[in-house]
Amino acid sequence: MPNPTPNPLTAHWRSEFPGLERSVYMNTCSLGQLSRRSMDGMQRFQEQWLSYGASAWYELWLGEMADARARFARLINAQPHEIAILPSVGVALSVIGSSLDFSARPEVVVTEMDFPTIPYQWMARGEDGAELRLLASPDRVQVPLESFAQAIGPRTGLVATTHVFFTSGWIQDIAAIARLAHDAGAFCLVDGYQAAGQIPVDVKAADVDVYISGGLKWLLGGPGIVFLYVREDLIPQLHPTTTGWFAAKDMFKFNPERFEMAEDARRFEPGTPAVAAVYAANAGLSIIEEIGVEAIRARTAELDADLIRRLRGAGLEPRLPADMARHAGIVMLPVDDPSAAVKALKERGIIIDYRPGSLRLSPYFYNTEAENQALVDRIAEVL
Ligand SMILES: Cc1ncc(COP(=O)(O)O)c(C=O)c1O
Repeated sequence: MPNPTPNPLTAHWRSEFPGLERSVYMNTCSLGQLSRRSMDGMQRFQEQWLSYGASAWYELWLGEMADARARFARLINAQPHEIAILPSVGVALSVIGSSLDFSARPEVVVTEMDFPTIPYQWMARGEDGAELRLLASPDRVQVPLESFAQAIGPRTGLVATTHVFFTSGWIQDIAAIARLAHDAGAFCLVDGYQAAGQIPVDVKAADVDVYISGGLKWLLGGPGIVFLYVREDLIPQLHPTTTGWFAAKDMFKFNPERFEMAEDARRFEPGTPAVAAVYAANAGLSIIEEIGVEAIRARTAELDADLIRRLRGAGLEPRLPADMARHAGIVMLPVDDPSAAVKALKERGIIIDYRPGSLRLSPYFYNTEAENQALVDRIAEVL
């Protein structure tokens, strides 16, 4: 399947990602490529550290954090004061978990397709009264909405699930899940790590209470930073006990006698962030913003469809949903020994990863059809 005309979006952006010259990189769902813009951002951070010392905090770094919050807010149709910066999803969940009261409504509904850090959080809160309700997936692709409807009830305090599943690329109907949660009087928290950046996200339209995503993957920002959205009117109702001085209303008063929490989402920020990560993430977000998520979604869907066609052409059958409009970015290919295949592919200059029983392939807008073909050829070879 020759593709002589390079896609203009891909052709325009490829040189921004020098790592693409070093390998065929099909692993954005684990870690997005490092851009020149993020490298420049981290370099700028170092220069500021060198020349300003601690005053960089007040003069520059707090401003960079505010910029990053505002950029992420625009991306998901939220407001900057609804966004907190934290180091990982696990920490964001811990902060939210520490502000919930499980006494009247102990049940937390999650699915077996969610990233394990989601169920782990509520398992670890068993002593606080949390009871985990784990929904099964019949096909390892999706979890039927009816399962949520059946599970959510008067004992449910929280539905904590995912926007795009990390081992199937299935896009959950988070608006419908939030509706089910709210109708039962429960909150709805969504892990959007595999969604934000690669598909449009509108937290207001979906009416979710909490939405979390981060730099690592489709936002091209690297490790060390996640963004936590909490719905404006919910913020004053939550009083996290996992906390610190960044959560104080006036942190620079350094008042040890009185702890008044910030009225905005800063109350969910426990302490000093990894500032280099903020610079890298801000640069990644600026690229996403410049291209536009609709254009990214269209190009990535095109590459996914092309990859699937080529895999099938080579006699390989990926595990996919029937409804491809609900699929985003992650193509699972069941194989006998995925870890050996990933290793053999790495030796051939192809970077992918695996999850139990399957290879995980994730082209992004910066990949090409020629790379899809190289990936399929090498997979056929190593299998
Ligand atoms: C869906 C999803 N959630 C969360 C994470 C990571 O969570 P944390 O930031 O706690 O490492 C990942 C991948 O690393 C993921 O794919």
